Amino acid sequence: MSTHNVWTHKGTFLLAAVGSAVGLGNLWRFPYLTGENGGGAFILVYALTIFAVGIPILIAETMLGRNSRQSPIMGMRYLTRTHNTSRAWESIGWLGAASAFLILSFYSVIAGWAIHYTWQMLTGSLSGADAETIGAGFDALLASPALLTLYHTLFIIASGLIVAMGIHRGIESGLRIMMPALFVILLLVLGYGVANGDFGAAARFLFTFNIADLSLEGWLAAMGQSFFTLSLGMGAIMAYGAYMSSEASLTRTAVAVAFVDTAVAMVAGLAIFSLVFGAGLSPGQGPGLMFVTLPMAFAEMPLGALIGGVFFILVLGAAISSSISLIEPVAAFLVERFDLTRPQAVTTMVVASWALGLLTVVSFNIYAEGTIFHALFGRSAFDFIELLTNIFMPLGGLLIALFAGWALTHAEVMKEMRTSETWFSIWRFLVRFVAPAAVAFVFLRSIPQIEGYLIPTIGALVIVGAFAAGRTFLIDHSQEQ
Ligand code: TRP
Repeated sequence: MSTHNVWTHKGTFLLAAVGSAVGLGNLWRFPYLTGENGGGAFILVYALTIFAVGIPILIAETMLGRNSRQSPIMGMRYLTRTHNTSRAWESIGWLGAASAFLILSFYSVIAGWAIHYTWQMLTGSLSGADAETIGAGFDALLASPALLTLYHTLFIIASGLIVAMGIHRGIESGLRIMMPALFVILLLVLGYGVANGDFGAAARFLFTFNIADLSLEGWLAAMGQSFFTLSLGMGAIMAYGAYMSSEASLTRTAVAVAFVDTAVAMVAGLAIFSLVFGAGLSPGQGPGLMFVTLPMAFAEMPLGALIGGVFFILVLGAAISSSISLIEPVAAFLVERFDLTRPQAVTTMVVASWALGLLTVVSFNIYAEGTIFHALFGRSAFDFIELLTNIFMPLGGLLIALFAGWALTHAEVMKEMRTSETWFSIWRFLVRFVAPAAVAFVFLRSIPQIEGYLIPTIGALVIVGAFAAGRTFLIDHSQEQ
């Protein structure tokens, strides 16, 4: 049966979930996507999906994990049996495993860049360097498949080792120190940005919006980012929920995770864009944004080499506490399903993801152009994998919301949430209708051909979908009794 134990401490889930949520998504991906998609409008869609869709689904996903107490795939299998629903809902687990595998592949490559910069900072090789030198250094890093592969390999091995040893020990005390320290250094960089950069321009860029500025794919990217940053829709939170003590409050935990995660992203965004506008750089320069701007600040700041070194070490810590949550659900599944040992399961997952990561490595250099991905999808392999995850995570979240909203009984949800009827009703309305409608809206929104028919199409789909979901589950429940 299950190898799962329960975290003894009530707060451990919160810590682990924050560790999973806060990572490259906040520091690297959020600023760069915001810059590429024009600022405020992107943030508006991102923030709306965090609160109306993200938090309810975070609660739903944790609930499914804690209710089943197994890895996502086996857990969904168990839930479909105990709730007499179609086995097709197991696809939640499979989709999640696919997303985890895809995300880890590029996550590890990007985290590798932070290894490079840790090294550069601590050796002082960037001290006093100007923007141009730093930019050229970054370009040189991207141009080297060998270097990128080396860092990618180091990072994924480190993550794999931690999961293989059993993630609970050690990580907890590490996170308790690392997360606040990371936040403090971010505030320091923000302070530097306020003093030496253009904070006003950054705030205007991030917080004034014209929704018409957002491209159709920008909508998808914003929603994808809100799932990505909360580690949602792929089973990571479900896997952690399986270890969560029954006493901890679901609602409060979910709100706390979303709050901390958003705060880190906002501070990182303000700091980075203050530097960007202060130095006259382009906000839309893509994935390199953080790695070009922050070293600029550290190059000039007093004690910058040291502070920068510590900063990048903390970035690596945040990235590792996220990447282990990508490995854990798949590894737990392989252990439960195929009776592999933990190290065998982790090795399988990590080796496969590592190999796929080589596609991301070469997307920045030898295959930046002219590949089959460009011919078929008009983008590099890395961009294509990102696009896939932007679709898979919300899709997984949609299914999780529907399953938790319709298949779980009132009593089961109340047992997990232990809240008032009012909060229960609000939550259930959100997961039954609002979250699915919002995800459907954004999916359809990003398809150009549908633009004019958007509202009626979604209305029809949601009514039919909700009715069908409700019917299926209601019929099954009546058979059950
Ligand atoms: N949330 C993490 C970040 O922001 C990345 C991450 C970890 C993740 N686990 C996940 C993303 C699961 C999606 C799904 O860096």
